[in-house]
Amino acid sequence: MKVLLLAGGDSSERNVSLDSGAAVFKALKNLGHEVVALDPATNQSLLDKKGMEYIADKSAKQEVLFPEKTDNIPILSFKSQEWREVEVVFIGLHGGVGENGAIQNLLDLAGKKYTGSNMTTSAVAMNKAIAKRLFESADILTPDWELYRLKDIPVGNVLINDICNRFEFPIIVKPNDGGSTIGLSKVNKEAELLEALEKAAAESKEILVEHFIAGRELTVAVLDGRAFPVVEIKPKNELYDYEAKYTKGKSEYIAPAPIDEELSRKMRETARKVFDMVGASGAVRIDFILDKSGKYYCLEINTLPGMTSLSLVPMAAKCEGITFEQLIEMMLQSALKK
Ligand SMILES: Nc1ncnc2c1ncn2[C@@H]1O[C@H](COP(=O)(O)OP(=O)(O)O)[C@@H](O)[C@H]1O
Ligand SMILES: [Mg+2]
Repeated sequence: MKVLLLAGGDSSERNVSLDSGAAVFKALKNLGHEVVALDPATNQSLLDKKGMEYIADKSAKQEVLFPEKTDNIPILSFKSQEWREVEVVFIGLHGGVGENGAIQNLLDLAGKKYTGSNMTTSAVAMNKAIAKRLFESADILTPDWELYRLKDIPVGNVLINDICNRFEFPIIVKPNDGGSTIGLSKVNKEAELLEALEKAAAESKEILVEHFIAGRELTVAVLDGRAFPVVEIKPKNELYDYEAKYTKGKSEYIAPAPIDEELSRKMRETARKVFDMVGASGAVRIDFILDKSGKYYCLEINTLPGMTSLSLVPMAAKCEGITFEQLIEMMLQSALKK
C-alpha cells in the first residue's frame, strides 16, 4: 500500500512525534508498504532524497514552522500524482492541530483515509474539560475539577482567590488541551499557585484545576473497542512528567499491571466505555490514577498516543503477543475499514 506518514508538526510535542514517526516509518517499511513522509509544519519530506532513510530534523525552531500558514496549508496541495496515489495516511502527530481534529478535518475534505479518530472525537478528547463532563455523564470517576477561561478570568489575584476558596491543596494545574504533561504542575500551597498558572497559561487559554489524587498510575490502551491489559507506570519523579515519559530509565513499566483480575476487568470495561462514548476509532490510550481505597479516576483519553519504542500502547499490545509491526498494520487496516 502507498502510505503517507505525517510526523513532526508545530505542537510542543513535536519532538515526541518525530520519534514516533521514526519507529512507525521503520515498521511500515518492514511491512512492505511504500512510504512517503511529510512534516506538515515545514512542508518538508521527512525522508532522504531516495526516500529510503527517515531524517527527522529536531533542530527546526517553532517560529519557522508552518511558513505559509495562511494561503497554502501544506497538505492541501493534493495536486501531485504522488498524493493521488496515497491510499491511507498514518498520523504520527501528537498535540495541537495534529490531534485536535484540524488535520483530521483536512483529510476528510481531501477524501483520504487516515489512522485514528475522526475530527469530532479528536476535538472532544483534546479538550479535557469536555471529556471529563462526558466521563461524569457516564458515572466514570474523574478528579474534582474546575475550568478557567483566561479571557474571562486572567491569571491574577481573583483567579488565585477563587481557586483557594474552591479547592483544598494539593491540586493539579494543567492546560486544558495540552499533552505530554507540558505546562502541568502539582501545587501544594497558595504561594506556588501563580507560577503554576503562568506555566499553564503559556500553553493554553484554558486552565484546568483538579484535585491531586495520590495513587498508582495506570493506563489502558484500546484498539477498535478491544481493551489491552492494564499497564502500570512507576515514574521516578513525583508525577509522570515529560522527563519521566520520554527519558529511558526515568519510569518503570509493569505490563500487565499487578492488580487483581476483578479490578483489571472493571478498568478495561471502563476504557471500552470511554472509547465508545467519544466515538473513537483506531488506537487510543486512557489514563487513570488508582487511589489507596481502590477507586480509579479517569484523567483523559489520548486519541493519538505515542508510538515510540518506549510507548505504552505497543507495550500493552505486546502483552497479548502483538508485535509493534502487527500493531501498525492493525491500525492501517482499521483506518481502511472506517
Ligand atoms: N488530578 C491528578 N492527580 C494526580 N496526578 C495527576 C493528576 N492530573 C495529572 N496528573 C499527573 O500528570 C500526568 C499528566 O496528566 P494528564 O492529565 O494525563 O495530561 P497529559 O495530556 O499532559 O498527559 C499524569 O500522568 C499524572 O502523573
Ligand atoms: Mg496523560
